[in-house]
Amino acid sequence: MGTRTTISVLFLMLIALHSPIHANPIKTIVVIVMENRSFDHMLGWMKRINPEVNGVDGSEANPLSTTDPNSKRFFFKNESHYVDPDPGHSFQAIREQIFGSDNTSADPPPMNGFAQQAFSMDNTTNMSQDVMNGFNPDMVAVYKTLVSEFAVCDRWFASVPSSTQPNRLYVHSGTSAGATSNIPALLAKGYPQRTIFESVDDAGISFGIYYQNIPATLFYRNLRKLKYITKFHLYDTFKSHAKQGKLPGYTVVEQRYFDVKIAPANDDHPSHDVFQGQMFVKEVYETLRASPQWNDTLLIITYDEHGGFYDHVATPVHGVPSPDGIVGPEPFLFRFDRLGVRVPTIMVSPWIEKGTERHKLLISHYIICHALNLSALLSNNHMSKGI
Ligand SMILES: *[C@@H]1O[C@H](CO)[C@@H](O)[C@H](O)[C@H]1NC(C)=O
Ligand SMILES: *[C@@H]1O[C@H](CO)[C@@H](O)[C@H](O)[C@H]1NC(C)=O
Ligand SMILES: *[C@@H]1O[C@H](CO)[C@@H](O)[C@H](O)[C@H]1NC(C)=O
Ligand SMILES: *[C@@H]1O[C@H](CO)[C@@H](O)[C@H](O)[C@H]1NC(C)=O
Ligand SMILES: *[C@@H]1O[C@H](CO)[C@@H](O)[C@H](O)[C@H]1NC(C)=O
Ligand SMILES: *[C@@H]1O[C@H](CO)[C@@H](O)[C@H](O)[C@H]1NC(C)=O
Ligand SMILES: *[C@@H]1O[C@H](CO)[C@@H](O)[C@H](O)[C@H]1NC(C)=O
Repeated sequence: MGTRTTISVLFLMLIALHSPIHANPIKTIVVIVMENRSFDHMLGWMKRINPEVNGVDGSEANPLSTTDPNSKRFFFKNESHYVDPDPGHSFQAIREQIFGSDNTSADPPPMNGFAQQAFSMDNTTNMSQDVMNGFNPDMVAVYKTLVSEFAVCDRWFASVPSSTQPNRLYVHSGTSAGATSNIPALLAKGYPQRTIFESVDDAGISFGIYYQNIPATLFYRNLRKLKYITKFHLYDTFKSHAKQGKLPGYTVVEQRYFDVKIAPANDDHPSHDVFQGQMFVKEVYETLRASPQWNDTLLIITYDEHGGFYDHVATPVHGVPSPDGIVGPEPFLFRFDRLGVRVPTIMVSPWIEKGTERHKLLISHYIICHALNLSALLSNNHMSKGI
């Protein structure tokens, strides 16, 4: 997910939320981590609906070649379809997307190598245009509604400028324990770091993981302990627990994955990818909305990484603290001192609406989450009323 600080902030929120001193209404935090989309690709065009969103207007462009001043340029379009290619998002690919080359000294980075990197994978230039493309808000209607009525975070970056699993590991443990790529053998063995689940458990707050085919949270070795076996539930149980008001304080809902190499999904429909994602988010939202727990719930929808799609906001490349000092493997020896590309994050709670005029919902429930400092979130006007 999102940020380096996500785990500690979520934990502090949970502790604060359960503390009698701050009569805080949020008692249930539900987290969904979707896959492989940048902010601009998914939500950039929401700027048309709400000019306060740091999105796109179509003037954003990338050259096919960053070293050729006369290169053909690809402008950002609004023509993404449900069917998308899977552009590059390895460490090297992302470095090229962010910096335009393997020279990482620019600060801020130019964010100009997306079209060029895609061209190296598909020389028809089709993929170059695909990565310079976003969804019309009507194509992602569930997000259109949620962004309009709740809070969209437009400064939330992937934790590692690399692929899915390092970022997923960050979500609930604040580190990838050195991982900068998906390494099936290490995932199978399980990563050793302490997670938010143990912290929450130690603090006397319940947690639960609801999964569709395989829980990726099992990539944390600690969660394989026998004592946690009762924390894992099939997705249908999420619906019944929500209905009965029995959702745990820290609830993770895992969608069906497409990229778990040790247990490949047998029922994926890549051609319906985004549509299915929208249906999944809608169902989780509606399940929570109908739950007796809705009044004390915060739903966080975020993405692991940007999946190779363009984003115009410069990725922070300095002042990023390493969580544990671990240096990544050869050949990059990455020090975890810069972030990945910006990803979509939406926060949903009845308390985000509080104190605002309902007929102005379209533009009033908007906050900026600082990637390196989520305390800003906690002191934000809209949120602080509830949290
Ligand atoms: C919602 O929560 C607030 C604060 O905890 C409480 O005062 C209020 O009665 C609750 N409303 C409902 C409908 O449960
Ligand atoms: C998509 O962008 C084009 C060009 O800027 C614009 O004419 C069109 O209205 C946009 N479509 C939608 C549905 O906003
Ligand atoms: C890397 O880029 C910087 C400017 O951002 C430039 O000063 C430097 O010479 C470049 N280094 C190499 C090896 O090209
Ligand atoms: C694209 O790649 C194919 C095979 O890799 C090659 O035959 C073709 O000439 C290339 N086209 C361009 C425009 O570079
Ligand atoms: C590239 O896009 C064009 C026009 O949309 C299409 O006709 C062509 O089949 C595409 N080529 C590939 C390799 O997907
Ligand atoms: C997301 O990226 C992974 C590689 O990190 C890839 O295997 C997977 O197919 C991608 N998922 C989607 C939905 O494109
Ligand atoms: C974090 O955000 C808070 C609230 O906006 C601010 O007071 C503080 O200075 C920020 N800290 C850093 C390190 O940016």
